[in-house]
Amino acid sequence: MARSDLLIDLVEAERRGDKQRFKALVEAIIAEERANQHHLVADRLSELITTVGSSDLLARDAAATRVSDLVLEIVPSRTLASLHLRPVVRSAVEEVIEEHRRCDLLRSHGLEPRNRILLDGPPGNGKTSLAEAIATETMLPFYVVRYEGVVSSFLGETASRLDAVFEFARTRRCVLFFDEFDSIAKERADTNETGEIKRVVSTLLLQIDRLPAHVVVVCSTNHSELLDRAAWRRFQLRLELDSPTRSEATAFLDSMQARLGGDLGLAPDAGRQAQRGELRRARAGRGGHPAPVCARAARWRPG
Ligand SMILES: Nc1ncnc2c1ncn2[C@@H]1O[C@H](COP(=O)(O)OP(=O)(O)OP(=O)(O)O)[C@@H](O)[C@H]1O
Ligand SMILES: [Mg+2]
Repeated sequence: MARSDLLIDLVEAERRGDKQRFKALVEAIIAEERANQHHLVADRLSELITTVGSSDLLARDAAATRVSDLVLEIVPSRTLASLHLRPVVRSAVEEVIEEHRRCDLLRSHGLEPRNRILLDGPPGNGKTSLAEAIATETMLPFYVVRYEGVVSSFLGETASRLDAVFEFARTRRCVLFFDEFDSIAKERADTNETGEIKRVVSTLLLQIDRLPAHVVVVCSTNHSELLDRAAWRRFQLRLELDSPTRSEATAFLDSMQARLGGDLGLAPDAGRQAQRGELRRARAGRGGHPAPVCARAARWRPG
């Protein structure tokens, strides 16, 4: 049975004639029913709000089959505990996860959990892993947008495929992940770009704005300077995943060694190793001779 607050809001929206709100509430109910494994009800409601007449039914079915090319469902397994994160990033992510776990309490106070997250940082620092961990911890399905399916060379096609992705996501509780977000949300003012990318970015931003709170959208980029400036504003949480410091990297390698239960052959003291490396480089600058030998050679004069 759908949440009573949703039903009351639904009737109110209908009485006000607010079609957009009505649709958003039906989508929330569908997501709720799906989460409760009531797939028949969810599918029937989904059919009712996405179809008007038989021609649209055909269009909807085509979109449903097409969506498998557009998003990849991954069963999330990575946990937040397995990631090494700065305390400020960890606590921000934990807060969002808590908001989703206790969304009923928030809603009873008229609040919605935050659901739009941007992860920024150099390659290999755990953006994709963190997105997956958010799905694991919130116990939501993890959908990764497949650009090879979404981006088309035909005019207008990319924007309509993006619409299909969002249409699919809106009716289920899930984490929707846009990896390499800069490749699709490029700066629209860039004079090298065609009108097509402008249409795509507008669609993307509008759709992100309209996303209900039960869809957590996570976008990751390692070129945040390329993002459209309006894209920034869409995200309630912007997290920077910087490269680890030497001590953080050492802690990570130590924990990995402990987890694997063997010796990885790591140097016991990374600081001392670094000093040795610097010494070697300094020696290489003097033709590879160890410093004391060079000093002695300079003092030595044939007798
Ligand atoms: N903070 C971290 N804690 C634990 N493991 C990490 C962390 N960052 C990266 N890793 C490890 O490095 C691998 C690569 O990380 P990941 O793919 O999440 O990085 P990314 O930021 O998404 O990189 P890219 O920008 O290239 O997509 C992961 O499989 C994970 O094992
Ligand atoms: Mg990645």
